[in-house]
Amino acid sequence: MNDSDLIARFRPSDPDFIADPYSVLSEIREAKPIFRNPTTGQWTLTRFSDVYETLRDKRLGRSYSHLYSHAEVGRSEPDSRWAAFHQHERWSLLCLEPPDHTRIRRLVAKVFTPRAVAALRPAIESLSTEIFDRCEEGDDFDLIADYAQPYSVAVICSMLGVPRSDTRALLDWSHAIVKMYELSTTDDVSARADRAAAEYVEYTRALIAEKRKNPDGLLVSELVRVEDEGDVLTEDEIVSTTMVLLEAGHEATVNTLGNGVRALMHHRDQWQRLVSGEVETRVAVEELLRFDAPLQLFERWVLEDGVEICGQPMRVGDEVAMLFGSAERDPRRFGRPDDFDIGRGDTAHIGFGGGIHFCVGAPLARQEIDVSLRGLVDRFPNLELVREPEYHPNFVIRGLKELRVSG
Ligand code: HEM
Repeated sequence: MNDSDLIARFRPSDPDFIADPYSVLSEIREAKPIFRNPTTGQWTLTRFSDVYETLRDKRLGRSYSHLYSHAEVGRSEPDSRWAAFHQHERWSLLCLEPPDHTRIRRLVAKVFTPRAVAALRPAIESLSTEIFDRCEEGDDFDLIADYAQPYSVAVICSMLGVPRSDTRALLDWSHAIVKMYELSTTDDVSARADRAAAEYVEYTRALIAEKRKNPDGLLVSELVRVEDEGDVLTEDEIVSTTMVLLEAGHEATVNTLGNGVRALMHHRDQWQRLVSGEVETRVAVEELLRFDAPLQLFERWVLEDGVEICGQPMRVGDEVAMLFGSAERDPRRFGRPDDFDIGRGDTAHIGFGGGIHFCVGAPLARQEIDVSLRGLVDRFPNLELVREPEYHPNFVIRGLKELRVSG
C-alpha cells in the first residue's frame, strides 16, 4: 500500500475507525513516525518517543497567542459567534504558556495538593458506595450513566465545593462544551457549546461570589483566598480555572472507567486476576489508561524557528498532533503492546501527558479509578456485559455511549 492510501485510512470522523482504531494506527505507526493529515494540515506523530519528547519541548506550546497574532501564523481569527466559548477558556491552564501558565499553575498546585487529594479518599469511597448501592437495585445498570458520570462529577464537585444539586447542570454544560475539542464540529454543535459556556460562566461567577461571602476551605474558596492574599488570581482566572478542573476532571475519568471495564470484560482472565487479589486495583489503573486511551490526540503549535521532528523541518505556526493511543501501543516502548496485562504496573506511560502541562489531576484520577475498581470487584465479582457497547463517534475524547453490565 502506498503512503497516501495508508494515511487515508486514518479517519477520525468515521465511526468504524473509532470503534477499533488500533490495527490501522499500528500499520501507520510501523510505516511512518510522522505524517501530514491532509484534512487538518497537522503534522501527526505516531510513536512513543517522539510524543514523549514533543510534550517536553518548550519550543512548542498549547497556544501561540502570547507570541503571535492569528494572522502572523496564517490562521483566521477565532469565530466571533462562539465568543462565550473562547471567553470561558481564556485563562484555562490548557490554553496558557509561560509566564501566565507558570503563575497560575503554581497557585493551583498550592491548593490542589496530593495531600488534599489523599484527604478526600474517605469521601470518594462513600460517594462510590452510595452510587453503587443505587446501581445494585436493578437487574443490570449502565456503568457510564448510572455510575461513572454521577460519581466523577460528584467527586470533583465535592473537592471544589460545588453543591451536589448543581451537578446535573454541570454535567450537561461540560458534555456540550468538550465537543469543541474534536477535530471538526458543525455550527449546531458549536452553538450549543457556546450557549453552555455562557451559562456555565454565569454560574461560576455566582459561585465565586458566594465563596467570597461564605468561605468553606474547599478548592474554589481557596482559589479566591489565594487571590485575595496576594492579589494574584483575577476573577476571570478563577472562573477559567474552576471550569477547566471540572471539565478536564470529568470526561477522561468516566471514559477511562468505561473503556477499561469493557477491556476487563473482554479479557476475563484479567478480571479474575483482580477478583482473586493477584493484582491490586491500584496497579491495574495504569494499564486501563494505556490500553484504550480515553484521550487519543493532543495538539501543539510550533513557536520557534529551527524545530525538526523525525527529520521533518517545521515552520513557526505549524500544528503538531500527538496520537496518544498509537504511542501507548508502540512496541519500541512496551513489550507485547496489544496484550491487555493489568499487572504491567508501568506508571511511566503518557496517559497524563508530560512537561509543563502534565495533568494536575493525575493523583485524583488514579484514586477515583482505583476506588471504583475496588467497589466493582468487591460487590460484583461475577460482573458481565449485558450487550456489546458502542463508542461515541468522537475520536479525540474516546468513550462508550453506554456500558450495560450485570453482576
Ligand atoms: C483518567 C483521567 C484523566 C486523564 C487521562 C487526564 C489526562 C490529561 C492529559 C493528557 C493532560 C495534558 C494535556 C496536554 O499536555 O496537552 C491533562 C492536563 C490537565 N488535567 Fe487531566 N486527566 C485526567 C483527569 C483529570 C482530573 C481528575 C483533573 C482535575 C480535577 C484533571 C485536570 C487537568 C488539568 C487542569 C490539566 C491542565 C494542566 C496544565 O495545562 O498545566 N485531569 N490531563
